[in-house]
Amino acid sequence: MEKVRIFDTTLRDGEQSPGCSMSTAEKLVVAKQLARLGVDTIEAGFANSSGEDFESVRLIGQEVKGPMIVSLARAREDDIDRSAEALKDAKNWGIHTFIASSPLHMKHKLQMNPQEVLQAATKAVEHARRYTDNVEFSAEDASRSEPGFLVELFSAAVKAGATILNIPDTVGYTMPDEMYQLIERLKNEVYQADQVMFSVHCHNDLGMAVANSLAAVRAGARQVECTVNGIGERAGNAALEEIVMSLATRQQYYNLTCNVVAEQIYPSSRLLSQITGSQVQANKAVVGANAFAHEAGIHQDGVLKNALTYEIMTPQSVGIQENNLVLGKHSGRHALANRLNTLGFHLDEEELNQVFEKFKHLADRKKQIFDEDLEAIVTQGVRQQEDNYVLNSLTVSSGTHMVPTATVVMTIHGQKIKKAAFGDGPVDAALNTIKKITNIDCRLKAYSVKSITGGTDAQGEVSVTIEKEGVRVTGRGSDTDIVTASALAFINSLNRLSRMPGLLDQSGVIKAPEKI
Ligand code: KIV
Ligand code: ZN
Repeated sequence: MEKVRIFDTTLRDGEQSPGCSMSTAEKLVVAKQLARLGVDTIEAGFANSSGEDFESVRLIGQEVKGPMIVSLARAREDDIDRSAEALKDAKNWGIHTFIASSPLHMKHKLQMNPQEVLQAATKAVEHARRYTDNVEFSAEDASRSEPGFLVELFSAAVKAGATILNIPDTVGYTMPDEMYQLIERLKNEVYQADQVMFSVHCHNDLGMAVANSLAAVRAGARQVECTVNGIGERAGNAALEEIVMSLATRQQYYNLTCNVVAEQIYPSSRLLSQITGSQVQANKAVVGANAFAHEAGIHQDGVLKNALTYEIMTPQSVGIQENNLVLGKHSGRHALANRLNTLGFHLDEEELNQVFEKFKHLADRKKQIFDEDLEAIVTQGVRQQEDNYVLNSLTVSSGTHMVPTATVVMTIHGQKIKKAAFGDGPVDAALNTIKKITNIDCRLKAYSVKSITGGTDAQGEVSVTIEKEGVRVTGRGSDTDIVTASALAFINSLNRLSRMPGLLDQSGVIKAPEKI
C-alpha cells in the first residue's frame, strides 16, 4: 500500500500559536516523543528567527534519531545559511524554504512583483540545494494564488532542485473540492511533477484543515503537514491524530497508510498539553476527554452489547489505557518507572531520580498518586530546567481579620533575594511579592485554577496568562497548595517571557520583543 508522509510542524507552526511557546528543553522532550510516534519529518523550528530557535533546531537535529529534521527558512540566503548551520551535524535533515505567491501577499507584504518572486524562489532553492538534497519549497497562501502562476512557480522550484512542493492553505480559506482540483491541476501541469512529492499544509480557520488535507491526499498529495492536537497559528493546523486515524479507520476508502504508531497518539497529545498548558477541548476528535465517552442510555446499552455499534475505533488503538493504576507512598522506583513509560515519559537514570524524589514528597502529602499527578511532576521538572527565576520558599499569612501578606525567597541568575508584600488575598500577595523581587512590570490577563484529580488532597493546577508590551505568555504550576501552585505558574510565565527573543535587556529588565 502506498504511504503518506507525516510532516509534523508542532514545534514550528504549532509553537507559533498563542500560549504554546516552548523552551528548548521542552521542545526536545516533545521531539523525542514525535520520533516515538513515528512521524517522518519534524519541523523543529525557524533557525534564523532567534538564538533560542537556532539552539532548539540544532539540539533536536543532534539528539533525535529517526525522523528527518528540518528548519523553516524564508527565501533568503541568511535564513537558509542559518538553517544549514543549525543542522550540519544532524544525520537526516532538510531545509523548508518558502515565499508568498498570492497577489495580496506579493503586493502588500513582500512588495515584489511575480517575476521577482519567481527569481527569489529559484535562488533560494538553488542555494538550499548546495547544503542538502532534501529541499522543500512552499508557496505561502497558495490557495489564494493564481493557479497559472503557481504552476510557473512550482516548475521553477523543481528546475532549481526542490524535491517536495508544499501547497499551504495559509489562511484556511479553501474548501475540500477546490483543494482537490488545485492539487490535481498542479500534478498535471507542474514541470516533472512525477519526480517530486506534493505536500499540503492546511490551517483551520473555517474548520476545514483536516478535510482539505485529506482531499489533497485523494488528489495525489503524499505528504501532510500537521500538528499534534491541531495547534498552530490562529485556529490551528490540521490535527495529526485526525489525519492518521482517518487514514487508518477508512483504509479501504483511501487505500493508503502511514508510518505513525497510532498507540502513541494519546501519550503525545497528553504530553503536549502538559508542556504547553494548552488543553484540548473535551469533544475534540480522537484525543478529547469525551472522544470515547458514551452518555446516552441507548448508546451505552449498544456499546455494552457490541462496541462497534457506536465506536468506529477503540480507545486502545490510539493509546488510551484502561489501567488507572494508582501509586502511593509505598510504591518503588520500578513501579514509578513502569508507569512513566506507559505514559510516554522515557527518563534517564538521573531524571528518574529527580522525579522519584518529587513523587515521594507528593506521596507524603497525598494518599494516591494518579497519572495526572505524575505528568504534572515530570513536565514541571522539564519546565524548570532552564529557568532564570526559581522559587525557593513561600510563606503566606491570611485570614478573615488580617491583611494577606507573603514572604518569598527566589533565586535569580544564581542570586538569592527575599522580599515581602501585601495583597487583596493570599494569591495576590504572593504574586505582588514576586513582581517586587523580579522587578517585572506585567499585567495579569487570565488566571484559572483546577483540580488535577479528585479528592480534597488533590493537586491544584494553576494557569496564568500575563501580558507585557503586547506579548502574552501562559505559565503553569501545580501543587497541593494552590497559593504555591499560583506562585509557580506566575514564575513559569515570567521565565517564558524572559526567554522571548530580545525581551530582556542586560540589566534583566524586560523590553519589547523584536517581531519576526
Ligand atoms: O501557513 C503557511 O503558509 C506556513 C508556511 C510557512 C508553510 O506555515
Ligand atoms: Zn502554517
